[in-house]
Amino acid sequence: MCRFSAVQAAASDTSGGHATASEVRSDDSQNLALILETMCGIVGYVGPRPSQDILIAGLARLEYRGYDSAGIAVIDGNGDLGMRKKAGKLSMLRDSLADAPLGDGTTGIGHTRWATHGGPTDVNAHPHLADDDKLAVIHNGIIENFSALREELLASGVEFRSETDTEVAAALLGREYAKSGNLQDAFQNVVNRLEGAFTLLAMHEDHPGLVVGARRNSPLVIGLGEGENFLGSDVAAFVEHTRKALAIGQDQIVSITPSEVTVTDFSGSPVEAEPFDVSWDAAAAEKGGWSSFMAKEVAEQPQAVANTILGRVHDGQVVIPELDGLDELFIGINRVIITACGTASYAALVGKYAIEQWARVATDVELAHEFRYRDPVIGDDTLVISISQSGETMDTLMAVKYARERGARTLSICNTQGATIPRESDAVVYTHAGPEVAVASTKAFSAQITALLLLGLHMGRVRQTLTDDSAVAELADLPDKIASVLEKENDHVAQLAGWMADTRSVLFLGRHVGYPIALEGALKLKEISYIHAEGFAAGELKHGPIALIEPGQPVFVIVPSPRHSALIHSKVVSNIQEIRARGARVIVIAEEGDAAVLPFADEVIHIPLAGPMFEPVLAVVPLQIFAMALATAKGLDVDQPRNLAKSVTVE
Ligand code: G6P
Repeated sequence: MCRFSAVQAAASDTSGGHATASEVRSDDSQNLALILETMCGIVGYVGPRPSQDILIAGLARLEYRGYDSAGIAVIDGNGDLGMRKKAGKLSMLRDSLADAPLGDGTTGIGHTRWATHGGPTDVNAHPHLADDDKLAVIHNGIIENFSALREELLASGVEFRSETDTEVAAALLGREYAKSGNLQDAFQNVVNRLEGAFTLLAMHEDHPGLVVGARRNSPLVIGLGEGENFLGSDVAAFVEHTRKALAIGQDQIVSITPSEVTVTDFSGSPVEAEPFDVSWDAAAAEKGGWSSFMAKEVAEQPQAVANTILGRVHDGQVVIPELDGLDELFIGINRVIITACGTASYAALVGKYAIEQWARVATDVELAHEFRYRDPVIGDDTLVISISQSGETMDTLMAVKYARERGARTLSICNTQGATIPRESDAVVYTHAGPEVAVASTKAFSAQITALLLLGLHMGRVRQTLTDDSAVAELADLPDKIASVLEKENDHVAQLAGWMADTRSVLFLGRHVGYPIALEGALKLKEISYIHAEGFAAGELKHGPIALIEPGQPVFVIVPSPRHSALIHSKVVSNIQEIRARGARVIVIAEEGDAAVLPFADEVIHIPLAGPMFEPVLAVVPLQIFAMALATAKGLDVDQPRNLAKSVTVE
């Protein structure tokens, strides 16, 4: 059984030796070759079982966070610390361990890395060692004052093997540890000297059965087992062993032993960590016979959407239980800003249409990284909704914090329990898409749109602006309609992609809620097939993009149903004629029975009849399949595209 107790640790000296921000910047600019560690996956284990396999399995689930290199360290039964690390994907490390395992040590830490600068080499991989290789450290984030710390350590005779900021933290910890022989005290002293964003784990061979960790602006959660405990960048790291977890707040330190978990703040005062149960099971994070996680996740969309709706429709009305008690807020707001990055920002654009239509409140969408660098007009009558699959995207997190500081109310739409963004928000609506592992987001996107539709309908009911309940009635049919697109169009779209494997550029056009889907279709293609792709609002075509059309140029057009608006439909059909006249190869996504598009389309992909706000969730599916099939035809790894990471925890 696990006991939670408070640790009474000595407060440390946190001053001295810090460079000013401008000194650090100038040091940094002189050290462009230095390698800064950014987003990475972290796992830690203490317990009775050999840790090597547990760490490797955890890293496999965290590999979406980075796959430039991987490494583990374990302390064996004799109290000896062994370490192995390899550049490249986790398979490189696995192969090396298969040839020469690290032994049966039951305390261990593991790391998978995504680097921003410099080459991913063996030597720059984690863990980094110090104190005559008795101490191992792994790290996610950027230690912004590492240059100054490095100078200080160099001056005192420390020699560095790598060029990473992490090794600086390891060396600092080695020096502190030598003073007291107390790992927790030394660790606390070190984290207080670090600036920037970091999750840090450390262990020392003098203390088998103990892993210490800390977080500042970078994720870390605790997994609670029976006679064993875990640390991870997210719950995927340990979900196959336990579904009981504790969330750690900002600027907190944790120590785990097989029987005990202690959490303090950076000054050593005990804090209570927030327990939560993980609803994912381990099988949900496995490939389960699919060729890729992306293929599996595309296919899981009916379930992801159904799970997101589950329990939120009562007596023909949308009632989101998590938003109980917030009616006054929804009635009082004059403005909504939805902020997000990447795919989530395209879901946000669909949300804008839905919230404005149903809740009659002005809604804008802001890319999170732009939002906080201007001077937006927000106040206590503004609701800032953030959307993030991971709940850890640093740009989005900073936008949420910024909005709160400016007095706005904040609500997050998130897929990951225990993540930072929901913890920093006033309220959260979870999407229940299950773990999304492939870097390119698919089922999380459908679930995000679904959550936004639910939110729009919930707000419309509360604000008494929702005049028509037909959309609520339609929610229940959405999963089956997605399933029917998957069933009827998968082979057709995959065949199309096969024919287009040599294509160098693809354009996507849409109007109204089809516009965000055009953007998302282009993003999917760029992300995984490395083909140039652009999404445009169809009406914008004549203002510039039409110059790109030359004979043979493939253009996907998302056509809205004529039943919703004959006017919008006819405008899109005119756009199709304009590009067709200039030789474009037109691939149309239109509802079943839309005869008006047939004379002008080279290919027609059908989606079932649906209300206007529901069409995006259906129209995006063929575009996901197209990107996936094209990348596969090019022989690319669809789950781990080059240069990308799933969760971007740096700005
Ligand atoms: C990264 C991923 C994208 C994702 C975006 C936002 O850029 O590569 O696929 O859409 O982050 O991620 P979030 O977890 O905040 O939804």
